[in-house]
Amino acid sequence: MNLNGPTLNLLFIGDIVGKGGRKAVKALVPQLKQQYMCTFVVANGENCAAGAGMNKTCLGEMADVVDVFTSGDHTWDRKEFEDEIRGLKNVVRPANMSKLQPGRGWLYTRNPAGGEVAVISLVGKVFMKDSAYCPFETVEQILTQIPITCKCIIVDIHAEATSEKAALAWFLDGRVTAVLGTHTHVQTADARILPGGTAFLSDVGMVGAADSILGRAVPDVIAKFRTGMPHKFPVVETGIRLDAAVIRYDMQTGRAVEIKPISVMYDPDTHSV
Ligand SMILES: [Fe+2]
Ligand SMILES: [Fe+2]
Repeated sequence: MNLNGPTLNLLFIGDIVGKGGRKAVKALVPQLKQQYMCTFVVANGENCAAGAGMNKTCLGEMADVVDVFTSGDHTWDRKEFEDEIRGLKNVVRPANMSKLQPGRGWLYTRNPAGGEVAVISLVGKVFMKDSAYCPFETVEQILTQIPITCKCIIVDIHAEATSEKAALAWFLDGRVTAVLGTHTHVQTADARILPGGTAFLSDVGMVGAADSILGRAVPDVIAKFRTGMPHKFPVVETGIRLDAAVIRYDMQTGRAVEIKPISVMYDPDTHSV
């Protein structure tokens, strides 16, 4: 593997939760891009509209700082998004769902700093309530369609089980730039470059309240576990932490050279880290 070629840095942001998450992304991403010299930004948007789902307005608030949005099991929580997604060129919904679903499961686009970036969205099957097609077979099929000129390939595996995410990463090692897990909203400590040059992190985390459970109010989540009764889970919009990962990759080979998880608190008074 040639590690001496020119490299580019890409920022991948975990599940953005609610208005607080959107505000933090808008305020912090320009600074993080500068600090980590990132030229391309991918973010999981599945919880950006009031904590559940996404829509054109909420994604639009962040469109000038995020290049491509991925999604997950909450993609269709907002009814309006079924129509809206057809007109959005910067969003991918899970590729391994029914072909009858609107939108697309992967895309490729130019990296302003050079070359192209392909982004693939997948959901897991283990402990996930929606019935999905096999993510392994789906991604293999997609890889045959990505132009050879597109060297950087980013896979968002939105899944519950670390084993399923790790298996997909090892399966794709040497064939994609990075396999990044989302959905649990908890950043894991297993960031590494696999032997073939694929960056992997079981879960990138979220952009949501540090004092919360998945971005939701702690007392209500405790009550749900204790009582088993239906409960509303208000989104916590303050004390926001942004979890992400910076991936450095070789422009010529598309292989990852380095992965660095980051986790920073947003200060709404100074609009900075
Ligand atoms: Fe999520
Ligand atoms: Fe999810």
